[in-house]
Amino acid sequence: MSGSAADRRSAIMARLRHTLGPFLDRHPHLRRARERMRSAFMSKMGKIRAHSDPSSFPIYILDQAESAACFFSAAYLGRNAEIFVADAGLADVLLVDIDGDRLSEMAAIYPKQWRTQTADAFATVELLATENRSFDVVIVDPYTGLMQRILFDLRPWMAISGLWLVIGTSAPLLAEIGCQPTSHSLTRWLTEAQPDVAAICAVTEVIFRDDFMGGIYWIVMRRVAAVELNSPGAVSIE
Ligand SMILES: C[S@@+](CC[C@H](N)C(=O)[O-])C[C@H]1O[C@@H](n2cnc3c(N)ncnc32)[C@H](O)[C@@H]1O
Repeated sequence: MSGSAADRRSAIMARLRHTLGPFLDRHPHLRRARERMRSAFMSKMGKIRAHSDPSSFPIYILDQAESAACFFSAAYLGRNAEIFVADAGLADVLLVDIDGDRLSEMAAIYPKQWRTQTADAFATVELLATENRSFDVVIVDPYTGLMQRILFDLRPWMAISGLWLVIGTSAPLLAEIGCQPTSHSLTRWLTEAQPDVAAICAVTEVIFRDDFMGGIYWIVMRRVAAVELNSPGAVSIE
C-alpha cells in the first residue's frame, strides 16, 4: 500500500463506511448508538461548532481583528457568534452576560486568556464607553425582547467599537421602524434617527440568521470615522 499513514487511515475508514453504511441503514438503532458514541467523544467546542452555522455570521470581520467584546454571549455557549471568534484565533476577548453559571461553563471551554464578566450588558457598555475602552469587534446578541433598546440607542455600542459592530435584530423590529433587511434601508433610517452614529459608521450588510419570529438578522456596521462617542455617567468596574 502506498501513500502516507493519514492516507492509508482515510482509505480504511472510507472502506469501513462503505461496508458498514448499508448495514447501519438496516439497523437504525445501531446507527443511533454510533451517533451517541461519537457525540460523547466530541469535545465541547466540537459540539458547539456542530450546532453553529458559519454562513450566518460575517466571519470576515474577524480577519484583521485582535480584540472583541461579546455582549449577551452565554445562552448557547457561543454557537451564534463566540465560536467564530475563537476559531478566528482572537485571544483578547471579553464575554459579558448576566448568566454567571453559563459564563463559567464557557470559561472552561474557550481560550484561557478570554475574560468573562457577569453583569448587565447595558451598564457595562456605558461604563466601558466612559472609560474610553475600545474593541476591534463588538458583537451584541440579545434575546428579541431587548433588541429594540439596543437598536434605538447605538451610541454606547458604537462608542466602544474600533472597527466593527454587529448587532442582532428581528423582522418585527425592522418592520416597526419601516426598514427592509438591507444595508441601504437601515442606513436611511439611521441617518434620520441617530445622525451622530450614522456620521461615524456605515451599515455594510444585513445577514439572515434564522427563521425565528419571521427572521433574525445580524446588522453589520463598520466604523468609518474615529470621532469619540462618549457617554456620561457610570462608575468603574474590574
Ligand atoms: C440570544 S442569547 C445569547 C446567545 C449567545 N450569543 C450564544 O451564541 O450562545 C441572549 C443572552 O442574553 C443574556 N442576557 C439577558 N439579559 C441580559 C442583560 N441585561 N445583560 C447581559 N446579558 C443578558 C442571557 O443570559 C442570554 O445568555
